[in-house]
Amino acid sequence: MDNSVLLTILADGEFHSGEELGAQLGISRAAVWKQLHKLEVLELPVESIKGRGYRLVGGLDLLKVDKIRGLLPEAVASNLGELDIYPLVSSTNDAAAEAIRVGRGRNYCCLAEQQSAGRGRRGRDWRSPFGRNIYLSMVWEFQSGAAALEGLSLSVGLAVVRALCSLGVNGAGLKWPNDILHDNKKLAGILLEMQGDPAGLCQVIVGVGLNVNLQGCDTGAITQPWTDLQSIVGKLDRNQLVAILIGELLKVQLEFTRDGFIHLRAEWCQFDVFAGKQVRVQLGDNYIEGLARGVDASGGLVLETDAGERVFRGGEVSLRGALG
Ligand code: ATP
Ligand code: BTN
Repeated sequence: MDNSVLLTILADGEFHSGEELGAQLGISRAAVWKQLHKLEVLELPVESIKGRGYRLVGGLDLLKVDKIRGLLPEAVASNLGELDIYPLVSSTNDAAAEAIRVGRGRNYCCLAEQQSAGRGRRGRDWRSPFGRNIYLSMVWEFQSGAAALEGLSLSVGLAVVRALCSLGVNGAGLKWPNDILHDNKKLAGILLEMQGDPAGLCQVIVGVGLNVNLQGCDTGAITQPWTDLQSIVGKLDRNQLVAILIGELLKVQLEFTRDGFIHLRAEWCQFDVFAGKQVRVQLGDNYIEGLARGVDASGGLVLETDAGERVFRGGEVSLRGALG
């Protein structure tokens, strides 16, 4: 059974009796208890005290369409397509793909409180517990086909960093091609998925996962150091964060469409965590070491190797700091 109504009631962090919850949900007290039990699966701390009822410790800052829309400047609000918030989806990128399928495409945006199958590149898992982080996907349409879209992932990363800067989060860096790091730990990731005609009109689903508060969650499956905004700047209003993020995403979309990545390159390079550092690129089973020399005009990674300069482009390329 969907427990989003129960969560909405408990979001205030106050005590609610079993009787009150049952009445509001239209179910028996036993059924309430069952639903409360299920919240443990969502890693939400439910406290129960005899005579007072149940409360969600710390409450929840749930995402709300009206709140987000109300925080958008007029120019952003009029450029944004439809906006949906789901309690639970497999992946917001899947929900965005469905929106394209039913013709709700251009600048459609959706968020979820939880993803049951959030994903990163190459099908890797993206840890997506309920009500804590940002899982957002937006549909961007392009006329010029996929060939001109190199550098898009980097541009989206820049939009995320700009949003973080305007929230007072200093020290965020970009790791080519799709990671946002803080203090060498992963704070956010970007997943772009393309549809349509690679030579003409196509839609790019821009997926952004941003950790707001992962404290206390099971993060054992995350295979690299991670961090979250709460550890960096303390509590943040998630609706405000989303409004700022949407604004920066649409701004970068405009800049990218009008001027191309080349005009964003210098700013991207200011945040490049590996610039001037010895790195190791993984290409399938091959490893290539070299000195990272930033990115070229279309967003390719430039590496100075013993065999001369090489440029790497998206896809299956993976970048790490050199060992030792
Ligand atoms: P590469 O540079 O090799 O592409 P990547 O960091 O971009 O690596 P992906 O291949 O996109 O990684 O896979 C996602 C990575 O993010 C995995 O290492 C996964 O464990 C990690 N991860 C999953 N969920 C989170 C999360 N909520 N916060 C931070 N990292 C996460
Ligand atoms: C990465 O591995 O760095 C990319 C992670 C991207 C995660 C986001 S969360 C919103 C959208 N939905 C997904 O399933 N993935 C992206």
